Amino acid sequence: MKTKTKRNRAVWAEKHKVFFKDQTKLPFKEEIFVSNDYKTTCFVIKTMITRGAGSIGAAAGFAVMQASFEAPENEYEFFLNKALKDIEATRPTARDLFAAAKRVYEKALISPSEAEKEAHKIADETAEAGKRIGEFGSKLIKDGFGILTHCNAGPLAIVEYGSALAPVIKAHNEGKKITVYVDETRPRNQGAKLTAWELEKAGVPHVIIADNAAGLLMMRGKINMVITGADRIAANGDTANKIGTLEKAVLAKEFGIPFYIAAPNSTFDKNCPTGNDIDIEERDENEVLYIEGKENGGTTVKVRIANPGSRAYNPAFDVTPVKYITAFITPEGIKKEPFVQ
Ligand code: MRU
Repeated sequence: MKTKTKRNRAVWAEKHKVFFKDQTKLPFKEEIFVSNDYKTTCFVIKTMITRGAGSIGAAAGFAVMQASFEAPENEYEFFLNKALKDIEATRPTARDLFAAAKRVYEKALISPSEAEKEAHKIADETAEAGKRIGEFGSKLIKDGFGILTHCNAGPLAIVEYGSALAPVIKAHNEGKKITVYVDETRPRNQGAKLTAWELEKAGVPHVIIADNAAGLLMMRGKINMVITGADRIAANGDTANKIGTLEKAVLAKEFGIPFYIAAPNSTFDKNCPTGNDIDIEERDENEVLYIEGKENGGTTVKVRIANPGSRAYNPAFDVTPVKYITAFITPEGIKKEPFVQ
């Protein structure tokens, strides 16, 4: 199968190799991680070498594609079923992972080359969805706006253009003068590390703020809108996103600031009735107890920042009830209802 090489993306495949911009190395080092088999791609998703709902969806699709090429002829389906289970076990919350893995699995039952086509189609669709989200979302952004975002929902997280950041980057490219307030997003600091890196690359004026600074900024009128991405949107519109999103949404409502969720169709889950039905990933306590960064000399270091005798609890996502969400920015336009695409 011939596909155009897409090396500008967060994740892409060439033949049976899958390539990732290594998000664990950013912003200090730009490195590409290459995966030759589905198990390595599972490792990539699990360890967050690639992360963000759309990018892990594309990665999961490519993982099933790899499995279909690896599967021995005499136990093709058995191998494929085992691979699907392994891929689905990597991370539980983002719906895109399950949707993509299932789509490619169904094509893999026909043939590996059908799986390959489908996996590339999913990556292309995700990229295109980000572009369209950018076009619709930028219309909501006015000259002079201060925009708050949480976590990272930029090009790294959604294959190419991003979800939450696509409208922001588009508005900036249209000449609107905006300032983005970037929540650092503890514990893994996706905002301070990845969103800030992407905004700098795109030339968008931005400042990183501590996770607990948004209230003051909202009260002082610095923030005109909030846009975040999503990992899973239940049928009633309740939305799972990175831990800390809920409190920003509640604050935004209190201060009368519009709160938007930007997401591709693959994040909407019609089989999940409400936010209570969303499985929230709990991650290693060390993500809270330690912090990783770069010393002045250039060495990457991990240091403990918490009391040595204490333990931590680390839920990776929270759920924002739909009553706090002004609207969804989707590839089809700005929608309040229906929530299921
Ligand atoms: O744990 P992560 O980094 O994979 O979390 C996902 C996210 O980046 C956010 O929740 C994001 O806002 C939605 S994914 C585009």
